[in-house]
Amino acid sequence: MKIVAFGASNSTTSINKAFANYTAHLFEGAQIELLDLNNFPIPIYSPELESSLGIPEQAILFAKKLASANLVILSLAEYNGSYTPAFKNMFDWCSRAEHKLFHKLKLFLLSTSPGAKGASCVMGAALREFPLHGAEILAAFSLPEYYQHFSTETGINHPVLKQEYVHQVEDVKNHFIVNQEQQKE
Ligand SMILES: Cc1cc2nc3c(=O)[nH]c(=O)nc-3n(C[C@H](O)[C@H](O)[C@H](O)COP(=O)(O)O)c2cc1C
Repeated sequence: MKIVAFGASNSTTSINKAFANYTAHLFEGAQIELLDLNNFPIPIYSPELESSLGIPEQAILFAKKLASANLVILSLAEYNGSYTPAFKNMFDWCSRAEHKLFHKLKLFLLSTSPGAKGASCVMGAALREFPLHGAEILAAFSLPEYYQHFSTETGINHPVLKQEYVHQVEDVKNHFIVNQEQQKE
């Protein structure tokens, strides 16, 4: 099973990248590729750039990387209640390409922030929007107060949040176990 994980942020110290990476490593035996939006430099979308240059190669490459995975673990950072500019720009460019960013992807959707809502506004937007672009959202979880509740060594330390998170992780694992069993039959 191949997992592609990334934080929807271009911060070099992204807490969402750390959270996505930690979560990916809970899937024992999976081949994991951790992506960083900074490694896919693209200009800010404009209709004129699209007409003159077409879709940037790096956007197509990013979409292809996601498409190569059995599971994509995406953790959303929230800026002013919405997507970060870096992620939104990638999403916008890819929505203009033949190969859509979320086409037929199985997604484990996460979000976190230092605040009390854990980026749940942007999570709401993604839950509405990504399925319209072809994503199947297998599970979703928002982690509030990242710095109080999370450590990259031991994971979530808040008992109620941990229980909900583990439940979501198990749901995603079970999805692939059931799929494997159906394929054997
Ligand atoms: C311009 C800007 C706007 C922000 N707006 C929000 C917000 O609406 N909600 C929130 O929970 N955090 C907000 N934050 C704080 C981010 O959640 C915090 O910077 C977080 O570390 C971003 O995730 P990342 O580290 O994965 O990039 C904002 C930060 C910036 C720089």
